Amino acid sequence: MKKRVVVYKRVPPLLVARLQQHFEVTCFDGVTPENRAAFQAALRTAHGMIGASVKFDAKMLDGAENLEIASTISVGYDAFDIPYLLKRGIMLTHTPDILTDSVADLVMALILATSRRIVELDGFIRAGKWKQSVEEEAFGLDVHHRTLGLIGMGRIAAAVAKRAHHGFGMKIIYDDHKRVPAVEAEFGAVSMPVAELLAQADYVCPLLPYRPENDKLFGKAEFARMKPSAIFINASRGKVVDEAALIAALEDGTIRAAGLDVFEVEPLAATSPLIGMANVVMVPHIGSATAQTRDGMVEMAVDDLIAGLQGAKPPHLVDPAMWQGARA
Ligand code: DGY
Repeated sequence: MKKRVVVYKRVPPLLVARLQQHFEVTCFDGVTPENRAAFQAALRTAHGMIGASVKFDAKMLDGAENLEIASTISVGYDAFDIPYLLKRGIMLTHTPDILTDSVADLVMALILATSRRIVELDGFIRAGKWKQSVEEEAFGLDVHHRTLGLIGMGRIAAAVAKRAHHGFGMKIIYDDHKRVPAVEAEFGAVSMPVAELLAQADYVCPLLPYRPENDKLFGKAEFARMKPSAIFINASRGKVVDEAALIAALEDGTIRAAGLDVFEVEPLAATSPLIGMANVVMVPHIGSATAQTRDGMVEMAVDDLIAGLQGAKPPHLVDPAMWQGARA
């Protein structure tokens, strides 16, 4: 009998066909209130699941007694309760590296769009307000040669540092739990304590995974340490920021602007005050959302799922040492 797989995100038909060569496959186009019962029913007999952007807690997975592997089409795996998976011996795989450059490109896009007020001034033309050469009310800020503060110096932060330093001559400062000699040598990055970084940076950009210890790492006190001209850029996880404190800081001029790809709750509610703010540029969690990168991510996640269900060690297991321990 073929093993069963549940797909809970739209994936290209060719890749569904590949899964169907090996498994009995049930597909869902996301999980919604309308299809949740059917999704849960399919999960009950599934050996593997693949998708993204759905939060799984113990309650959702308790009934999935056959589940051997979850393959998330994302680098971040905060949608999963790791200790629970560990206890159940369920493997978890993710898609590192392949999206690094796309996310770094988006960070630069947010830096440029907020600094040069691209969205706001696009709206200005569309509203028929462009009658003469613009004056200082429409001026932006330079990006080149200014200071970029990166919190966390993993793969994506290093890719942002590369673009900012080599492309824009920016000064890179960073805070991480360890020094990263390669970025210091290649991009002249300077390590410093976060309080100092917040005071010096023209752009403050956390690039951290979400973990409970990173919850609301940026709040009122952190925004108060930034320059009034500083711009906050977040393409990591919304929950590393106290969104209410960010909104207050943007409203009262504590900081100048924000470029946001991620939010405390996604999708962002239509009632969020962020929606009415001209000094905010927002995109709907699109860090990895390019045709090339998403195709590559899905393919990687499918390969991992097939490997795991066929008894091989998937190449992109989350923390293999931890899983080996779980299975010993
Ligand atoms: C991920 O893959 O975790 C990122 O959030 C994509 O943007």
